[in-house]
Amino acid sequence: MENKNEIDAIITKYKGKKGATIPLLQDLQSIEGFLSREIMQYASDQTGIKIADMYGVATFYSMFRLKPQGRHIIKVCKGTACHVSGAETIFHAIQSHLGLTDLEDTTDDGKYTVMEVACLGCCSLAPVMMIDEETHGKLTPDSVGKILDRYE
Ligand code: FES
Repeated sequence: MENKNEIDAIITKYKGKKGATIPLLQDLQSIEGFLSREIMQYASDQTGIKIADMYGVATFYSMFRLKPQGRHIIKVCKGTACHVSGAETIFHAIQSHLGLTDLEDTTDDGKYTVMEVACLGCCSLAPVMMIDEETHGKLTPDSVGKILDRYE
């Protein structure tokens, strides 16, 4: 296992402590940006915290990820100005274009991760999304597909 020393240090820090599941998982996630099955199983074996309990916490809180993030991060604004300008329709158009269900945020090829965010600070361009550091505004369901297809 990669990063075993770092993982062991984190486990040692929390082993045997009450209420340690959330901070343990937060620290473990900070290593690779997500919680792999392998890391969760290892941490469960080492701490005695049941794997089912770990998965319960990791799937309940949105701050935890069970898959790596995509190479490109799409932030879809759901702030008020974007909301009234059709952000929900834009979000569904992105999901549809990428073949994502409501239960998935990352494409199978690892290219994109989609997330909803609050105001991106450019309300006059509503509805807005950011892909990595690039802002795209005045979106329509037709334009999002064309924009997404430009990324490698
Ligand atoms: S509400 Fe979307 S950019 Fe401000």
